[in-house]
Amino acid sequence: MPSTIFRAPRRAVVLFSGALAASLLAACGGSSLAEDDAPGSAAPEDAGPVKIGLSVPLSGVYAPLGEDMQQGFELYLEEHDNQLGGYDVDLVSVDEGEGPQAGVPATQKLVTQDQVSAVVGIVNSATAAGLRDTFIQAEVPFIVANAGADEITAEPSDYIWRTSFVNSTVGGSIGAAVAEEVGDGSVYLITADYAAGHEQVGGFREAFEAAGGKVAGESFTPFGTTSDWQPYLSEIRSSGAAAAFSFYAGAEAVNFVKQYDTFGLSDSVKLYGTGFLTEGAVLEAQGGAAVGTKTALHYSHTIESDRNAEFVEAYEAAYGEVPTVYSVQAYDAAAALDLALEDAESTDGAGIAAALGGIGEIDSPRGPWSFDESHNPDQPYYLREVQEVDGGLVNVAVRELG
Ligand code: PHB
Repeated sequence: MPSTIFRAPRRAVVLFSGALAASLLAACGGSSLAEDDAPGSAAPEDAGPVKIGLSVPLSGVYAPLGEDMQQGFELYLEEHDNQLGGYDVDLVSVDEGEGPQAGVPATQKLVTQDQVSAVVGIVNSATAAGLRDTFIQAEVPFIVANAGADEITAEPSDYIWRTSFVNSTVGGSIGAAVAEEVGDGSVYLITADYAAGHEQVGGFREAFEAAGGKVAGESFTPFGTTSDWQPYLSEIRSSGAAAAFSFYAGAEAVNFVKQYDTFGLSDSVKLYGTGFLTEGAVLEAQGGAAVGTKTALHYSHTIESDRNAEFVEAYEAAYGEVPTVYSVQAYDAAAALDLALEDAESTDGAGIAAALGGIGEIDSPRGPWSFDESHNPDQPYYLREVQEVDGGLVNVAVRELG
């Protein structure tokens, strides 16, 4: 049963909290920082908490992704004294589950029953697409922190925002690079058979063919129920392709990459994909089978910047593991709400939605970004390669994709 929670991180986070900073300043006595000028002090003193919904998968093939998102969102709250825009946060979490059947009603409940002021989350494209109208009609901001469905932001709405990516864009980002790497060889496309797979591989195909690439064949595998990829792997081998391109995530990515290797394809048919294929806990489970796989994504914890180093250190201290793209997307959703609530004229959905349009740049671990006119992040994508570094496996950011 969903509940109002603020889950303690698995490991204590040692942070310099806003309250501690304020009391130290007061003790010093000489501060000229007026109450109203302090960061996050937009909320009137008697303002009640703001209720925010978090809907991420805690069950099904995408459960590991949901855990990363929850951790990212909660880390931001920890770092900000459990406040957004100066308001205490009352966080209500639900399980998105695997697909729309579970995820749509669970998330709708946040709006209809819990009456939250905004909702963050949703991994699955089909679930996010099924929820879009609910948020527009209820006038509650929906900050999509993963699902990439093109249609969600095709027609911009004040109530629909996304801190992640657009499926066809992330797929398309690596098209020309693969065309260049395979030269005269052809590429086989294989993906989960639902919106995200069709759009990511579709975006890849368009950019790849525009750059002169040739497609050897295509397979769509049933989402959430495929456990044996052998028939598809035989197709890839007999197609004569020089490489394969795929979208899989979570448990499906683990099984696909391991079977690809066991079947003996990884040496002869180079594996490419969108970065979800080798991201986070998935990479650990794939082990050596993933080495050499090249992917495109808007984040790698190896991105070199002070902001990212600070974030990776805090995340590792809190959870004992490196952050993933899912952690960052949810962390940035909290940052967007923080900035919006600082300026919002009211803490209801309409107030937050109006303020989201004016928040400007988000100082993100992935690099600074702002919402574009469709309310998606305006951001670069990186070519990453799975490499063994100091005895572990890492998605090393090799270069920015043009
Ligand atoms: C999606 O359904 O849009 C989706 C799911 C998992 C990912 C990426 C995209 O890792």
